Amino acid sequence: MNSSDLQTVAIDLADRSYNIAIRGSLFDNPLSYAELPKAASALIVTNTTVGPLYAVRLQRALANKFGQTYTVTLPDGEEFKNWQNLNLIFDALLAHACDRKTILFALGGGVVGDMTGFAAASYMRGVPFVQVPTTLLAQVDSSVGGKTAINHPLGKNMIGAFYQPLKVVCDLDTLKTLPQRELCAGLAEVIKYGPIADMDFLAWIESNLDALLARDPAALAYAVKRSCEIKAWVVGQDERESGLRAILNFGHTFGHAIEAGLGFGVWLHGEAVGCGMVMAAQLSARLGLIDAFFVNRLTQLIAKAGLPIKAPVLPGPNNAERYLALMRVDKKSEAGDIKFVLIDKPGNALVRGAPDVVVRQVIDTCCA
Ligand code: NAD
Ligand code: GLY
Repeated sequence: MNSSDLQTVAIDLADRSYNIAIRGSLFDNPLSYAELPKAASALIVTNTTVGPLYAVRLQRALANKFGQTYTVTLPDGEEFKNWQNLNLIFDALLAHACDRKTILFALGGGVVGDMTGFAAASYMRGVPFVQVPTTLLAQVDSSVGGKTAINHPLGKNMIGAFYQPLKVVCDLDTLKTLPQRELCAGLAEVIKYGPIADMDFLAWIESNLDALLARDPAALAYAVKRSCEIKAWVVGQDERESGLRAILNFGHTFGHAIEAGLGFGVWLHGEAVGCGMVMAAQLSARLGLIDAFFVNRLTQLIAKAGLPIKAPVLPGPNNAERYLALMRVDKKSEAGDIKFVLIDKPGNALVRGAPDVVVRQVIDTCCA
């Protein structure tokens, strides 16, 4: 695939449909925003790291479209994805007398995207927003599909809304400034799509991992496009996660427990998901769904992508019980029964419970 060609992936959701545009030189090009509705004002939401790199260029690109373009800059980090900092967005919207037509622009990674989307869903009961994702993780996953949220100290992404953007502008050039640890974290969500939906894609990632780690533009362009296509296919069938969409949470049940258990921001989300996929694959094998060969194949890929494969021991007296307690507040849990996304054959996932005794064995093995 030629990285200089504009790629478009459609999210098909009736009157909430939109496009994902993928290429370099996109986010600061006024044409990227030409089809958006006119409005008196726009608000760019960014953070203290991404803002200095890109906010002025986005502001310039929006200048002729909107009467006024304002910027609000949030503190950077998963630990700031909370009520207090969500309020900074509402403070800015109200201070600038933003109205119902004001368009919010989420300029940053998944934290900025999730918070901006939630603010857009709730300000004046809903204003439009655009995702301008600048991390690999946000380009392949979080900016697409309309899940928006903030964290609660007791659980990850526990307060939020389903709310779709008007458009997603994935500018591959922004990945050039991404720290390598963040690039690796994004690869976790790329790898995820293989075992749950597309084994050809998994094989492609295995063959192109070095190119991805070296930020080869063509490899990144294909990884973003194929990931968005798979996500679009899933979200198009199950926008609000009444069933199928839960497969996108492969590795997340264990991963969210790692993030909340260690304290948000200690492990990156993608690192926790990478390790969580190893744990979920091991659980799948212990339940007789897949063989050890596939678990090893996936584990090796995750390790080669620079992600942790050994789970952390969580603070507190009983590690396995702490994991279980945290996973019971996962959004997929029903009446306290934890539901896991498991691989039942390579390329296919299902959601089901598992006996606590087997889950404890997986936790003990993975933390050892
Ligand atoms: P992030 O938003 O914290 O960004 C990672 C780091 O990279 C931050 O320090 C950020 O400031 C910095 N950064 C961003 N773009 C940069 C750039 N171009 N150059 C230099 N630095 C840059 O983390 P993330 O991995 O993008 O997103 C993780 C979040 O996404 C989590 O909160 C997770 O829950 C959420 N998420 C949501 C969904 C969804 O469907 N809504 C899916 C997956 C993950
Ligand atoms: N990242 C999981 C989802 O969008 O459903």
